[in-house]
Amino acid sequence: MSFSTLVNDLTYRDRPTSTNTASTAHTDTRSQISRARSYASTAATSVSISGDISSQLHGGYSHPLARAWQAERQLTKSMLIYPIFVTDNPDEMEPIPSLPGQKRMGINRVVEFLRPLIQKGLRSVILFGVPLAPTAKDALGTAADDPQGPVMATLRLLRRAYPRLFLVADVCLCEYTSHGHCGILHDDGSLNNNLSVDRISDVAVAYAEAGAHCVAPSDMNDGRIRAIKLKLIEAGIAHKVVLMSYSAKFSGCLYGPFRDAAGSVPSFGDRRCYQLPPGGRGLARRAIHRDIGEGADIIMVKPATQYLDIISDAKEIGSDMPVAAYHVSGEYAMIHAAAKAGVFDLKTMAFEATEGILRAGASIVVSYFTPEFLDWLET
Ligand code: PBG
Ligand code: ZN
Repeated sequence: MSFSTLVNDLTYRDRPTSTNTASTAHTDTRSQISRARSYASTAATSVSISGDISSQLHGGYSHPLARAWQAERQLTKSMLIYPIFVTDNPDEMEPIPSLPGQKRMGINRVVEFLRPLIQKGLRSVILFGVPLAPTAKDALGTAADDPQGPVMATLRLLRRAYPRLFLVADVCLCEYTSHGHCGILHDDGSLNNNLSVDRISDVAVAYAEAGAHCVAPSDMNDGRIRAIKLKLIEAGIAHKVVLMSYSAKFSGCLYGPFRDAAGSVPSFGDRRCYQLPPGGRGLARRAIHRDIGEGADIIMVKPATQYLDIISDAKEIGSDMPVAAYHVSGEYAMIHAAAKAGVFDLKTMAFEATEGILRAGASIVVSYFTPEFLDWLET
């Protein structure tokens, strides 16, 4: 019942009866309305009290600031990690067709590219190497930790150019292997876990020594967190390197644009025997438990919006550590495509998706929307 209906109704009910007409005949319309109003408000209050007062919610979020306060975690610039693709072609600056607005760049372009973003408050990047030279790939992914390779060189460069920028290095072999898989293979094409872990942990230590504040193995080989932690300890740098594990990394179709960008499409087969099956919630929980036990400092879930329950599980299992989520290339491209098709407004969806990720439990988000958020969070 609207307020005006209520007033009318009470005004009508409050009409003088025939027995007291004389005494109230002088009552003018204005005082009648004001009596009706106070009746209405008393009646409205008593309705909600005698009903359920907890039904009254609107007041709590009537103001924009009060709405922001409703979130357990509000999106801030320091939660964002921006993915950067660095090629071995030093002067390159090429748009990535599958990732609208994103670029693949050579080492000579990175410092200038990042300058305006850092001025706007960018705190962290995650580096991916994209070897383009025809001879760059082999069965062992040798180029991954080539001291002159794009990731190693960019780490050294950025550490000097922007000492306060937090550098994350994605650690994997798929960009560097001739077969495009995330490790070293047996003859039958399956992953050789021991050799892969040994190689990937070497690469992680090399990145850390080149200047990465954080190494983030995305390969999914069993036991690599423990191997990396042990080698970091051995190298005497475990105390100053964050180990972020892509613990719950699911297989599926959402990494397509990334693989285009990084040139890491497997030449045969797929990644279903090492990345998790989309329905595998229990498996993800076991992987999270395992990686915490093996020495991970941060747990990552990937993709993000299709796996909010897993983010929430990660926060529950890893309640004493930060949880990160990777809002992956396919999620980003999907939002762009839908916005372009007029389904929704890009910015509104970018916020809604990212806020959903935070609500689920993440406090770190790897996002291709980072440059936009640096602007959007300003206003
Ligand atoms: C490398 C790696 C991938 C992504 C992050 N690290 C690709 C893959 O596993 O196939 C995906 C990121 C994205 O899709 O944005 N292992
Ligand atoms: Zn990989």
